[in-house]
Amino acid sequence: MIDEKSIQTLMETCRYCSWMYVLLAALMWFSCNNEPEPKVEVADPHSYAMPSEAKVTHLDLDLNVDFNAEKLIGTAILKIDRSKDSKQIRLDTKQLIIESVLISPDGVKEKVAKYRFGQDDKILGKELIVELEPQTQYIHISYQTEPGAEALQFLPPALTDNKTSPFLLTQSQAINARTWVPIQDSPGIRFTYNATIKVPEGLMAVMSAKNPTHKSNSGVYSFEMPQPIPAYLLALAVGDIEFRSLGEKTGVYAEPSMIEKAVYEFGDLNKMMNIAEKLYGEYQWGRYDVIVLPPSFPFGGMENPRLTFATPTIIAEDRSLVSLIAHELAHSWSGNLVTNATWNDFWLNEGFTVYFENRIMEELEGPEYASMLAQISYEDLEDEIEEIGFDHLDTKLAIELTDRNPDDGMTSIAYDKGFYFLKLIEETVGRKSFDQFLKKYFTEHAFKTMTTDDFVAYLRTELLENHDDAEEMIQVNAWVYDTGIPDNIPFNPSTRFQAVEDQVHGWIAGLKPKDMKEETKNWSSHEWLHFIRVLPDSISSAQMDSLDKVFDFTNSTNSEVQCVWYTKAVKSGYEPAYENMKQFLYKVGRRKFLMPLYEAMTETEEGTEMAKEIYRVARQNYHPIAILSIDKLLKWEPES
Ligand code: BES
Ligand code: ZN
Repeated sequence: MIDEKSIQTLMETCRYCSWMYVLLAALMWFSCNNEPEPKVEVADPHSYAMPSEAKVTHLDLDLNVDFNAEKLIGTAILKIDRSKDSKQIRLDTKQLIIESVLISPDGVKEKVAKYRFGQDDKILGKELIVELEPQTQYIHISYQTEPGAEALQFLPPALTDNKTSPFLLTQSQAINARTWVPIQDSPGIRFTYNATIKVPEGLMAVMSAKNPTHKSNSGVYSFEMPQPIPAYLLALAVGDIEFRSLGEKTGVYAEPSMIEKAVYEFGDLNKMMNIAEKLYGEYQWGRYDVIVLPPSFPFGGMENPRLTFATPTIIAEDRSLVSLIAHELAHSWSGNLVTNATWNDFWLNEGFTVYFENRIMEELEGPEYASMLAQISYEDLEDEIEEIGFDHLDTKLAIELTDRNPDDGMTSIAYDKGFYFLKLIEETVGRKSFDQFLKKYFTEHAFKTMTTDDFVAYLRTELLENHDDAEEMIQVNAWVYDTGIPDNIPFNPSTRFQAVEDQVHGWIAGLKPKDMKEETKNWSSHEWLHFIRVLPDSISSAQMDSLDKVFDFTNSTNSEVQCVWYTKAVKSGYEPAYENMKQFLYKVGRRKFLMPLYEAMTETEEGTEMAKEIYRVARQNYHPIAILSIDKLLKWEPES
């Protein structure tokens, strides 16, 4: 019989081989039982945690936010659930300084614990192994973060809107929670949490938890998160922010200088919530608020439960970019309620959310609007496939990210191929059946995780088997397990975009920009975006100039328009746009905008020089997550 120790050793040497973990666990079970094979917990290749040994069920955080030293200092008390004979618990840490570890049976009678660091990996960080005594239920860790911790960005006042107070923001997804909390950082392990956060006077702290609506005089804030969440949804923001209510259970936080604009921009939040609940069931998280962060936030939005984190680049003053909020709200079901079991199943989070976002926007703005969003998705997907290659393994929905950074999976495949797969199912079985299926899916798997294989099985038994020929028409296996885009992708060109293309064709045939004013006067920013995107690649600098004189794209305040226009400017050598592009890159740290701009510049030698010159100044304004990507692109050696 295989003993536990040799299995343990084997598992340690083959930590990344998830199949090995599953196989060995099954083998061990078989070697001592004649009972049927149990459902083995899914191994997460991006975490050292072994939940079958011991897992965290509650976190008690007590942190001091030190803006001068740019670190968090404090304690994390972990309540654990363990098997009686487990000897240790494995935690994920990265860029953390562990000062002491105590254990206790009750959170009171504490004693010094034996602990050691196990494996150390550039991507995964350091495994922290704490020895357990038979009665141990609590682990008490004193620690501080290291400078440069990947989840954290400490902003000086100059990088905020008010320019008077510093700001701190965290970004835990995908595997950065471990850089600010010693925890089991795996999407399959959920815990509730409480936190006490001490911040400098005059600032407010908010988390992915029940939040304050006023500043405290003491600078101490207490939080409670009663619903269990995985570590990637742990979040904290600290700054000079204030709160405004938007409805019974919705509201917005922002710097005082931004708050009015934010209140206007998110005016449809309640409507979105009502639409979402009507579609797929009651909202499960109590309140839904949004915080507008400073512009260096590396993402558009992050679905931190109860409190979506959002970039200020969606504040366009005309509500034109709020589908991003619909997206983050939708994650309250797809992702936060039913969570991808590992980052290999990321499309279950994002593909479902893009689909759900589209349904919310269809209800809010009409089918023509949703059809524009769907076409943008389609074009993003085509571009992505062209870039990574039709046959590349990363074009599978069921992606394999073992031994890699999970951020590699953050491509249009998960989002847009995922979206089109679900749209195809909807169109094949009919919207009514699909909605019933989805509602049931969210209800039955609430606060649980889902793997790709389990979803496919559930889809077959709960939906496809009741619809003749659905399986053949959809080709589920091809969509999920094969590369590329199947031919049956249900793409229908948007009629509003066709009108845009007519204008571009007219312009190519000689129509003057000023004579296009009438036709384009009611265009939304999506139409303008499409207009710029479909301009020919060969466009000359003089042609760019003639369009700019009439439509003033260079001075646009819509971040999406700015991004595509400046990218075109770089590609066509249209220099009058460069200064504004530079200012945009100094200010905005959203990776979605940074990447295409820096990439376009690196296409020529001269451009590469310009990119480096801009980056030399801008780098300090970006979040560590964005810095990682651009350092790589520009082969940047940090100057000593
Ligand atoms: N959860 C993602 C952001 C994310 C994914 C962060 C993976 C880190 C790793 C969020 O919901 C998202 O998708 N944001 C998008 C906007 C959305 C409208 C497509 C973004 O930030 O651009
Ligand atoms: Zn998302």
